[in-house]
This record gives sequence, structure tokens and C-alpha cells, in this order.
Amino acid sequence: MSVLIRGGRVITAADDVVADVYVEGETVSLIGRSLDVSADRVIDATGKYLLPGCIDPHTHLDMPFFGTVTIDDFESGQRSAAFGGTTCHIDFAIQSRGHSFTEAIEEWHAKANGKALIDYGFHIIVSDLEEGGTLEELGTLPDQGITSYKLLMAYKGVFQVSDETMFKVMQLASRTGALVMVHGENGDAIDILIKEAVAAGHTEPKWHARVHPPELEGEATNRAIQLAHVAGSPLYVVHVTCKEAVGPIQRAREAGWPVWGETCTQYFFIDETFLERPDFEGAKYVYSPPVRHASNHDVLWNAVRTDVLSAISTDHCSFLFDGQKTLGRDDFTKIPNGAPGLGDRLKMIHHFGVGGGRITLNRMVDLLATTPAKLFGLYPRKGTIAVGSDADIVVFDPMRRETISAATSQLKCDYNLYEGTEVTGVPEIVLVRGHVVVENGDLVASPGSGRFVHRARFGQELAPAREPVTS
Ligand code: URP
Ligand code: ZN
Repeated sequence: MSVLIRGGRVITAADDVVADVYVEGETVSLIGRSLDVSADRVIDATGKYLLPGCIDPHTHLDMPFFGTVTIDDFESGQRSAAFGGTTCHIDFAIQSRGHSFTEAIEEWHAKANGKALIDYGFHIIVSDLEEGGTLEELGTLPDQGITSYKLLMAYKGVFQVSDETMFKVMQLASRTGALVMVHGENGDAIDILIKEAVAAGHTEPKWHARVHPPELEGEATNRAIQLAHVAGSPLYVVHVTCKEAVGPIQRAREAGWPVWGETCTQYFFIDETFLERPDFEGAKYVYSPPVRHASNHDVLWNAVRTDVLSAISTDHCSFLFDGQKTLGRDDFTKIPNGAPGLGDRLKMIHHFGVGGGRITLNRMVDLLATTPAKLFGLYPRKGTIAVGSDADIVVFDPMRRETISAATSQLKCDYNLYEGTEVTGVPEIVLVRGHVVVENGDLVASPGSGRFVHRARFGQELAPAREPVTS
């Protein structure tokens, strides 16, 4: 099967040119002006952008958490991703305490098998090195294409690891070629603040932000950076929300340390006042780290513009408002932490980031596709439009308007963080490895067509799937 996409504005992290893109099989085989080739299908992209399929490096699908399971699985989550222009994501396989890493990876493969519509990989969340997994076993995961280890410094008693475990994993990563990811919040101090708030009788959602102050994000972020520096490992700080955490990342990067930071769509748009919405609606905005004071929105836009922060993910972790978030109606500590967003990232960042003059189109592509691909061992197979790369392409109509809503999100989740927001610029056709998955509002691929991607080690390139066919 061949596809010729004619006359679109091809936008990568570096280039912006009007060209034809010729796809043979699953890869891009030619890019040029007025290509003289015949194709099984021709798509007229005049007036449209051709963007590399976006990569979401931070999602939680079908994840057990807070005594329940996220409502969106690999089928509904990936459907929403595809409609929103995301063609590859990396989900977190969780090592439960007392269980091996292999069990976690097998479990997550089973969750995705037969359901996937887009391509995907896994990070491993390390919960314990004493009763279940061993460092030796963790060291074998890069051979299976799992080339990133995530450590949570918060969620005491659930995922939180000690500094000792964190440091050992960082040392291991420096030897195995894995990228260490951290959730930077001081879980011990948060635990004390939670107990004090509960003892004082505080129950409402707004207390979630009060017991997760920004200083505790800054402290943990800085601690992780210093430990990674001593251990000699590269570090990626997930979901950065505030100036207290941006500062240490900026200093490390200015010093030339291998440190990167990510923020998420929601942290540009939602602020702490949302937690006070009546009728328990504030629970929709309970996630960790929490929503912050609105003054951080500009801090984050400046950080992504200047490459202090290098990627924007969604941290998609969706729970129904009705029946799941409401588990915490009488106790904010029981509100499942997380929110939906897999399908909204490109539209929101394009409209408010590019449309608002905060970042360029090239920078948007870099933040949503190219840098995630480079950091997580997917580049240049994914994350760009180039000869030999997977034909993961979004035909994006920059003029079409849409109103964001849970009703049209393709998710099972019953609310949307950006409900009612009007955006200009919408994916029109989405191709994954040369196959059209979404076209003009219809899903045209079948579950099971998405593939697990065996990622390269940190700093290494993922070779094209095969040599491009040239005619
Ligand atoms: O509240 C959140 N973010 N839930 C997902 C787990 C995590 O902390 O990333
Ligand atoms: Zn997360």
C-alpha cells in the first residue's frame, strides 16, 4: 500500500516546508516538491499542516490506583489519543510490592494486547527492591526495550521509594543505558501534612493542594538531581508544575548535567482555584503534583519556550467523576489522583501555545514529538517526518474549530478538564505506520493494529524499521 500526501506544510522540529510526502508500506520513502509517483491513495493536504505523530511519554491506562482502576484502558485511551494526533505513547508498567519486574511487564503487555490502535512502549515503575524485584532483574529490562526506570518520591506506603533505592537504581541506570524518571515530591513531609489536615477535620478537595506545597516539589526535584549527578545517570523529571521545581532543573541544565524536565498540558491551564468548585467538582482537578497558583502558568510557558523544560505530556490517568472521584467525597485523601487528557494535548498546545504566540510551530513539534522520541529511544524511527521514518503523520487543519468536550473525547471518562474550550486547529487524518487510523472524525483502524515498540537505550538511536523503498 502506498499513500501520497500532496502539498501539505511539513513541519518538524527544525523545518517548515510545503512538500509532498510519499509513503510506501509503513515508512516515508520520499519527500519533495511535485513528486512524480503513483500511489494507491492520494490525500490532498493543501492548506494543512503535516506534523509528525505526537508521542506522549507519560500515560496511565488500565492502572490500579486508590483502590480502583482507571476508567480508560488501552482501547478507549488509545482511541482518544489517535483522534488527538498522538500516534505513540509510553505507559507505566507498575511493579507491585513483592512482585518481580517481569510480572509487571507481562501484565502490561496483556493489557495492551489486542486492543492497541497506536504504537506504545512501557517504562517500569520500581516499587521495591527487597521482596520482589532485584537490581539484577531490573538490569535486564533494557534488553526487552524497556529503557526507562521510574521512581516515585511521593505516595508514601504505596509507590514511594527510599533515597537508598533511588540511588541504587540511578547507579544501575548509569550502567545499563536506561533513563531515570522521577516524580519529585517529598512524600514523607506530605504524609505528615496529610495527617495534620485530616486530624484538623479538613475534608474538601482544596486541601489536596495545601498538603502538597510547591516547596516540597522543589526540594525533591533538587534532591533527585543531585543524587543522579553523583550516580552518573541521566534524569528526566516528570510533571513539573512550579517555579520551585523549574529552578533546580534550570541550574542543572545550565551546568551541562544530563537533566530534562517535562510538564503536562493541564499545568498551563488549571490553577488552584479550580479545587474550590462547588458540588465536589473540585475533585476533578485532584492530581499530583497538584494544581498550583496561576502565576506558575507563565513560568511553565517560559520554561518550555527556552528548553528549560523539554517535553509536554498528559499524565493521562482518568477516573470517572461519578463513582470514582466521589470515593473521596468525605475525605480528600481518598480522591483518586489523576485526570484525563490524552486526546487534548495537541489541540490545546497548538491553540494557546502557538496561537497565543508563546511557542513556535517547530517548538510545539519538538515538545510533543521529537524530544520525547529522542529521550526515550524512539528517534529517528518516530518523532519526525523524514525518509526512512515510520509514517506516523497527522494531517492537521489549522483553521478548523472545535469545542472540547467529554462527549466527543472518545474516552470513557465522564468529564474533561477543558470542557467547553474552543480551539482552532484539529487533526483531520491520522496515520500510524502508513495506515489511516482516524479520518474526518471516524475511526478506521481496528483494535490490535497498534504495536509494542522495543525502544533503544538512552542516547542511542532507534533504526528505521526497514530501509525505505525507492522507485
Ligand atoms: O495524579 C496523578 N498524577 N496520577 C497519576 C500518577 C502520577 O503521580 O503520575
Ligand atoms: Zn503519572
